[in-house]
Amino acid sequence: MEKPLLKIGVLGSGKGSNLQSIIDNVAAGKIPARIACVISDVTDAYILERARNHGIEAIYLPPGRYKTRLDKEAETKYVKCLKDRGAELVVLAGFMRMLKEDFINAFPNRIINIHPSLLPAFRGLEAWKQALDYGVKHTGCTVHFVELGMDTGPIIMQAVVPVEDDDTPETLHQRIQVEEHKIYPEVIRLIAEKRTELVGRKVRIR
Ligand code: GRF
Repeated sequence: MEKPLLKIGVLGSGKGSNLQSIIDNVAAGKIPARIACVISDVTDAYILERARNHGIEAIYLPPGRYKTRLDKEAETKYVKCLKDRGAELVVLAGFMRMLKEDFINAFPNRIINIHPSLLPAFRGLEAWKQALDYGVKHTGCTVHFVELGMDTGPIIMQAVVPVEDDDTPETLHQRIQVEEHKIYPEVIRLIAEKRTELVGRKVRIR
């Protein structure tokens, strides 16, 4: 019998290179999952075009009146949209708004995010620039379960990237993204294969 595919809903606000890496891995048969829809809070975000290019339903949903989060009404619409499409895992791929209680409670331990630093260092915006300005010798990226705090939540996987003396924010971000495109699909594969287990705040991988 065919293994059931995990239904994924992806949320993003930008160029969607992480979405692309997930699409490519699903297409290559490496992840037992199906991308049910891609939702964006930005009408013309390239992530929506990438979805359409691959025959994935691409939906713009207005975020409401706030800048850094969804308002309550919008949050209800996002959750409904995901539930209507049977999403079992919500993947944040460059989604530039914080999720609040109602959203998080609708998908308990079923929302993941990728952040461009080795958390808990350098939470927030332009984490690669924060790392460069601080002068660390290594930074990287983190995939974690989403909880109420900004860029907090149990860590599932991290990848380390060296910081070079002549790095600019752009070159460092590019190097981090190369690793993002490896670990995000890998984490989704592990979740789809039911190989992650949350023990307290620690994620065990079997
Ligand atoms: C990535 O750097 C990710 O770590 C952060 O937002 C960026 C999204 O990039 N959360 P992309 O839209 O997937 O190219």
